[in-house]
Amino acid sequence: MSATPSSFAPGAPAAIAGCRSALGEGAPAQGFAADLARALASRPRSISPKYFYDVEGSRLFDRICELPEYYPTRTELGILATHAGAIAAQIGPRAEIVEFGAGSCVKVGLLLAAMDRPARYLPIDISGEHLAAAAAELRASFPALDVQPVVADYTQRLLLPAPLAGAGRRVGFFPGSTIGNFTPLEALDFLEATGQALRGGALLLGADLVKEPSVLHAAYSDAQGVTAAFNLNLLARANRELGTDFVLEQFSHSAFYNAPLQRIEMHLVSRCRQHVTHDGRRHEFEEGETLHTENSYKFTIEGLRELASRAGFTPGPVWTDPARLFSLHWLQAPQ
Ligand code: TRP
Repeated sequence: MSATPSSFAPGAPAAIAGCRSALGEGAPAQGFAADLARALASRPRSISPKYFYDVEGSRLFDRICELPEYYPTRTELGILATHAGAIAAQIGPRAEIVEFGAGSCVKVGLLLAAMDRPARYLPIDISGEHLAAAAAELRASFPALDVQPVVADYTQRLLLPAPLAGAGRRVGFFPGSTIGNFTPLEALDFLEATGQALRGGALLLGADLVKEPSVLHAAYSDAQGVTAAFNLNLLARANRELGTDFVLEQFSHSAFYNAPLQRIEMHLVSRCRQHVTHDGRRHEFEEGETLHTENSYKFTIEGLRELASRAGFTPGPVWTDPARLFSLHWLQAPQ
């Protein structure tokens, strides 16, 4: 386990637009107070990663995607660009693309550009604002495309609009290895529900692969400290929105690879014995005690295919980069 300093130098402007995690940006602040209270009262302490994504958190996340150490975004883009023809052939003509989370206009843009007369694009996002921006961007790039945003929490049961008359296959798109931010049980539940929503169609799923721990470690503990700032922003957000008194300098970012569980764990580690007041209650942190803020599971290609099979999908072709850092899976939904 190691920690990086929380300070960071201003970086380059984000060129990969909107590549935030699709896990619940814009989640309302209600719930945050109650969830933080629960987190502070329990041992070990943990809180949902959905509270990372306020405006500042989303901005920092975009910068993570640009970091030299953070390989997943550019690797997945590379796979999409290299195999666009094969993927589009698999998708077939006049298909509808349903994207879970409306963050990655660049990624879905590569897909749509390669496809044979895409019929419709249905981005699903919990944040109406983010959705509107993504829809406008796609409409500008693809004037002939029918773009129909769906404001919904895709981790809940989904009711999608009826397929267009004469449309081809309905294909779900879930990039960014966001599947890895679920627990294995949540991932199975999500895939089961998604398989039902996409009946007769398919899912194009991006999954980060297990690899040398040092490579994983660097990706989540970058030299500039952007990931540290992203992690610490959770406490800054609590101070801003809930009036807590976290002293940010007294917590450090720690991200490490838990090999037996095949996941990166992100924590905020208390650097000394201290107290934090939230909602009139004083909570003690021992030196070294942590608040667990996120997991990012890594997969083997076989493991991901097994998980998808258990959820009712029939695994098809898999596309990877030459270094086998990342994988893109074609999963046929149940009939
Ligand atoms: N799902 C991606 C991943 O796990 C992106 C992501 C989500 C992320 N939360 C993050 C990246 C926190 C860095 C830090 O890698």
